[in-house]
Amino acid sequence: MRICRNTSLKPFNTFGLDYRAGTMIHLRTEKEVKAIFKEELSCKKPLLVLGGGSNILFTGDFKGTILLPEFGGMRIEEQKDEHVIVSAGAGIKWDRFAEWCVDMGFSGIENLSGIPGNVGAVPVQNIGAYGTEAKDSIIKIRTISTYNGRVRIFNNDECNFGYRTSIFKSTEKGKYLVTRVYFRLELNFNPNLNYGSLKEEAGKLGRSTLKNVRSAVLNIMHRKLPDPEVIGNGGSFFKNPVVSNTTAEKLIKAYPGIPVYDDLSVWKKLAAGWLVEQCGWKGKRAGDAGVHEKQALVLVNHGNASGKDILNLSEKIRKSVREKFGVNLENEVEIVD
Ligand code: EPU
Repeated sequence: MRICRNTSLKPFNTFGLDYRAGTMIHLRTEKEVKAIFKEELSCKKPLLVLGGGSNILFTGDFKGTILLPEFGGMRIEEQKDEHVIVSAGAGIKWDRFAEWCVDMGFSGIENLSGIPGNVGAVPVQNIGAYGTEAKDSIIKIRTISTYNGRVRIFNNDECNFGYRTSIFKSTEKGKYLVTRVYFRLELNFNPNLNYGSLKEEAGKLGRSTLKNVRSAVLNIMHRKLPDPEVIGNGGSFFKNPVVSNTTAEKLIKAYPGIPVYDDLSVWKKLAAGWLVEQCGWKGKRAGDAGVHEKQALVLVNHGNASGKDILNLSEKIRKSVREKFGVNLENEVEIVD
């Protein structure tokens, strides 16, 4: 365990915001985590578990204690004729794991290549991209209760996974720290190329092999999304809004070009990026807070924006989308005061 005081948060959030954390604890073993939650070690509250910091907007210094799970290890747990069970420690970078799986010939998460953040955040957020969600491959999650320091394993069906959500973000928020995630991946590759331009992009690379699909996903992503190493951002700032069929029908009548996804039976999903662009925000700036020029769903820090500048911009965007379309945008990024 490594304890740091009054530390800069800049390397720990992809918006690149330079706030400070009162205390930061790097955790390498479950024993260390247990010591904290059994209160053998007293920590200034509140406690905040931070993964890769790729989906979080700090709006000021964090006065409490930040916990950084750094559990490593990527393992093959079990191999059968057609599938394999693999696991990864919460502190592993997600894309390092995704790449390893592709190199090993294990398929199921290749469409999730390139997503920033650590493995520990993957089930919490049920990350998704290009027609795939993490929940489709996760089989169980090892956690430690923040209440009593005991290990608890959650099976997939206990996690209440939904679009960018799980019980770890809703009813059980803050109650468990993820230490390890287990995935069931396939040995026979059956590509999922249903998303928009993925088939075409993979086609350009030749046969749809596992490696080519990963490269195609990375190519699309690099074209549309800003690299946080170059320009601070937290990926999609808003979720794609889910609306009733009636609302969707009204919007289709008023705006015939509106993208509407009907993968849900009673509800329809709209494209938040399209709504934001139609309100004229794409590429706009308010000082150093801005809307990405290639993807209006992504808010960026052009250099010296504060968390509050970005939050204020997001609120203006939400207001204009509500006024023009009558649709409420929910944040995907977690805001921390
Ligand atoms: N669109 C616009 N203008 C924009 C952005 C998008 O008109 O500025 C339109 C596109 O033309 C398309 C539709 O909106 O018709 C959807 O756009 P896109 O395929 O780029 O995906 P998205 O819905 O904006 C979601 C995820 C992304 C993920 C992509 C690809 C959410 C909140 N975002 O974005 O995830 O990479 O699909 O699957 O669901 C993230 O979660 O941080 C993230 C980047």
